[in-house]
Amino acid sequence: TPRVFSGIQPSGGLTLGNYLGAMKRFVTMQDEGKFETVYCMVDLHAITVWQDPAALTRATRELCAGFIAAGVDPSKSILFNQSQVAEHAQLAWIFNCVARMGWMQRMTQWKDKAGKNSQNASLGLFAYPALMAADILVYHATHVPVGEDQKQHLELTRDIAIKFNNDFGVDFFPETEPVIEGAATRVMSLRDGSKKMSKSDPSDMSRINLTDDADTIAQKIRKARTDPEALPSEVDGLDDRPEARNLVNIYAALAETTPDAVLADHGGSQFSAFKPALADLAVDKLAPISTEMSRLMEQPDEIDRILGHGAEQARALAAPILKKTYEIVGMVGA
Ligand code: TYM
Repeated sequence: TPRVFSGIQPSGGLTLGNYLGAMKRFVTMQDEGKFETVYCMVDLHAITVWQDPAALTRATRELCAGFIAAGVDPSKSILFNQSQVAEHAQLAWIFNCVARMGWMQRMTQWKDKAGKNSQNASLGLFAYPALMAADILVYHATHVPVGEDQKQHLELTRDIAIKFNNDFGVDFFPETEPVIEGAATRVMSLRDGSKKMSKSDPSDMSRINLTDDADTIAQKIRKARTDPEALPSEVDGLDDRPEARNLVNIYAALAETTPDAVLADHGGSQFSAFKPALADLAVDKLAPISTEMSRLMEQPDEIDRILGHGAEQARALAAPILKKTYEIVGMVGA
């Protein structure tokens, strides 16, 4: 069976962007039954920028609770945190020696995150995409569900696989495909339709957090920035209306339908009518997740047990692939 791998950083809270762009689709791919699904809390990636240790611990458990509350079932998917499966870091080292500095320098996420003062960024932040390639390829995963913002990293993952295969004259690492699908592959800020919804935005009103309660969700949607026009009846009418497009996309993704279908129902509505409908839908879909997350967070031992079990399962898949990689590279070993 083909394997799916994806990861989320435990660096602060989960947003609606993470949920619609990634998690919700992790669940679909798990339930389709066509794939073996491996989902990871990428704590090694999180520490490429400073994380307070206690906050990292909490964020990792909360992320695990989020996965489960969103519908990832530890009896159907492998669910674990990255640091517990050493093969990720081990393969990442090999890939650090395959990837080129120039490839890394071209990564837009590196440029954005390192900013002007890149001399002061961690070496880990620079090497981040090689670790990401290792996450995926240490399982020979072929399908990677992600949001739009990870596309460039997945192209680099292919480049690393291809170069490794060429350098060593093997056909060992598969070419992975990003799975970037659905209405909400890039959920935008509720305050600015040109910015991605992000957990690092200073304004909490710019995002919906998976831990927000019903009133907060409704209030954030009510206050979301919009233009004064009514909704168009076709998606073409959303051109140059980024805020309107974003709310329609969010609606479509939550309702598991298409933007066209949403506009067929709501075209001609003013935002004064559409926003309450969206708020109801969002509360309906998200409030149960937040309730379940808080319930799970009261049982940290159970969460740790699930993560421990997942790490064992993951290791069993990764170890033989790393061993074979070492052999290909020429490392002496038993
Ligand atoms: P991270 O932790 O930033 O985000 C996790 C997932 O959520 C998606 N996402 C969004 N999707 C739509 N709209 C948004 N506003 C939005 N914000 C976030 C991301 O695209 C991602 O799918 N580098 C990765 C983590 C990672 C990984 C991997 C992913 C590490 N190793 C291997 C896939 C495979 C990251 O920082 O995601």
